[in-house]
Amino acid sequence: MTENELKNEILRLKKEKDIVILGHYYQIDEIQELSDYVGDSLALAQEAQRTDAPIIVFCGVHFMAETAKILNPTRKVLLPDRNASCSLAESCSGPDLRKFKQQHPDHIVVSYVNCSAEVKAESDLICTSGNAEKLINALPVDQKIIFAPDKNLGSYINRQTGRNMLLWDGVCTVHDALEAEGILKLKQSNPDAPVVAHPECNAAVLAVSDFIGSTKAMLNYIQTAPYKRFIVATESGILYEMRKNNPDKEFIAVSSKESCACLDCAYMKMNTLEKLYLCMRDEQPEILLDADLIERASRPIVRMLDMSKQLGIIK
Ligand code: 13P
Ligand code: SF4
Repeated sequence: MTENELKNEILRLKKEKDIVILGHYYQIDEIQELSDYVGDSLALAQEAQRTDAPIIVFCGVHFMAETAKILNPTRKVLLPDRNASCSLAESCSGPDLRKFKQQHPDHIVVSYVNCSAEVKAESDLICTSGNAEKLINALPVDQKIIFAPDKNLGSYINRQTGRNMLLWDGVCTVHDALEAEGILKLKQSNPDAPVVAHPECNAAVLAVSDFIGSTKAMLNYIQTAPYKRFIVATESGILYEMRKNNPDKEFIAVSSKESCACLDCAYMKMNTLEKLYLCMRDEQPEILLDADLIERASRPIVRMLDMSKQLGIIK
């Protein structure tokens, strides 16, 4: 099928089967274009909870589709490529986290949403990059905390809040590959352009960045900041939304240290138009979780959503 035929078939199946397509900002442009909602992981989790469509196709990575299933278990949740994982989710297993908890029984566990359902089930509270700082600040100051699995986000939150959370040793291999040296060179040749970075970047990169935030926070900043050019230190998929909302602004994408290619998350880019079409046609790969796991994993996610509402982070 040609690209246009695939797009038409996807639109036809969407209508025929009443499918809602949720797309993360890191998906390829064509998938973002076809999605009913495009957002960061927090906004997409909310959409997954709200939708009454019988089938959710989650164009993102596995842990995001699992979160959708946990929040709306009566829906059929599909993921175009079942291997679309995440280096953070892979760095931490449920049994390993359980062992770590046993070594620190006086700590609660706050886990970044980029983790498996098993890890969520071992956690007291989930956060995303969009709410982590505010949620941690809302916990009692003397509360001891294990933060899993992203040590870069965790140490950033430690610096922002003055906490001393115990950090799991995981990283996003995409953001962690960025180097401060390359960004400094870009800053020197583009002194009018502030650097916007995701908090999954390492501490040296964040130290030379002018704005640090989740994908949604970066998009908001770019829309309102009084600059015409921006250096973007995050996954390249976000450039689609940045350019769409700000046609008069220029974006300079930072590349990884291994190559001069754009910063692509190989997992996010596993979803293609063809796989999206096939998954809508065949209604698989489907996310299946047992009821007990859904029950245990939903508690810390619902707690995150409730706290985020109370704190005015989301509606
Ligand atoms: P957001 O929570 O900002 O959507 O980020 C998800 C992610 O995977 C970033 O690498
Ligand atoms: Fe995971 Fe990093 Fe890819 Fe996000 S960009 S899905 S954190 S590997």
